[in-house]
Amino acid sequence: MIQFDLETDRKLFESALDFAEKQVRSLIERHPDFYPMYTMNGRWKHEGPAWTHWCDGFLPGMMWIFYRRALNAGAPNADFWFEQAVRYTKPLEPRQHDRDVHDLGFIFLSTYYRWYRLTKDPALHEVLIQAGRTLAMRFNEKGGYLRSFVAENSLFIDIMMNVGIIFYAARETGDKKLRDIALRHCLTTRRTLVRGDGSTAHEGIFDLETGEFLRQSTHQGYRGDSCWSRGLAWSLYGFTTCYEYSGDPRFLETAEKCTDYYITHTGKDGVPPWDYQAPPESRKLLDTSAAAIAASGMLRLCRLLPDPVKGHFYWSTAIHILRSLCEKHLAKDDPEWEGVLKGGVYHIHKNLGVGESVMWGEYFFVEALDNALRQL
Ligand code: GLY
Repeated sequence: MIQFDLETDRKLFESALDFAEKQVRSLIERHPDFYPMYTMNGRWKHEGPAWTHWCDGFLPGMMWIFYRRALNAGAPNADFWFEQAVRYTKPLEPRQHDRDVHDLGFIFLSTYYRWYRLTKDPALHEVLIQAGRTLAMRFNEKGGYLRSFVAENSLFIDIMMNVGIIFYAARETGDKKLRDIALRHCLTTRRTLVRGDGSTAHEGIFDLETGEFLRQSTHQGYRGDSCWSRGLAWSLYGFTTCYEYSGDPRFLETAEKCTDYYITHTGKDGVPPWDYQAPPESRKLLDTSAAAIAASGMLRLCRLLPDPVKGHFYWSTAIHILRSLCEKHLAKDDPEWEGVLKGGVYHIHKNLGVGESVMWGEYFFVEALDNALRQL
């Protein structure tokens, strides 16, 4: 039975958000106009490779959250965060045309979408729509999926977090073709990457001649038939978002199945191993970023469920995960550490960002704390 003391949780989460603000402020003072991805020994600035460029929205995304919080509280630092958020968001604008990545949802929903919701400036809206149109150009007609950045025959579970921007562009423009692309991508992902037990594969490989689905595979997980925990978290959150846009009950069902797998296979503090089927020694390595994404996804999903008991269960699980992250994984006691959350894992096989702070982990942690505080 998960115990609650709402006042204690509120203080814990507020203090974690204050710490996140402090770390982000130090980062931008130390390395102005730099968009980091993962730390190396706790330091953001290093020469480590990116593998792919998908993270630039997360730092300004946190600034938009800090800005709104400061504004609502009437705090004197609201102007500071607004200026920084704009400063770090504007340089991303040309990426509305970026055809090299499958990550335009990550980049624009964390930034331009937040900015547009605050100002309703039509120019920001146009950027979002173009980003959705650009992402839709990755659609492989025969296979029925948006291809990943690695190859034409490759579908990633991560794309579930990005397809929302196509639904958005479709809704705002009334473009049925865009909506059809987004729906077909979700259905193909559901059929090929989400298994009967709710676990997920990282990648699907297709025959380009026929469009036939051939096999499950992975880049960042342990094996093609294992469940990489961050992929699972992307799936539970991504299918939730796509249910919000489409109202298609199949996506709600999939989001629930992935969430149930997460809950039943994760240890009692709610932070998962980097891959659920990795060998026992390796499984001791946790991924705090997967936990932050899962908590944030559950806080959205819990409001959509017709069954209030299950909704409350997801909500309380999300609060429990956040509590664990705040109590056990914050970098607060390490003054040399530049990140917020320790213990993220980027790419274990390439040895990138293993046991480090990772920018998406910081962003979804801040997003989840902010959402939790608004519900507590
Ligand atoms: N490429 C997305 C991830 O590392 O989760």
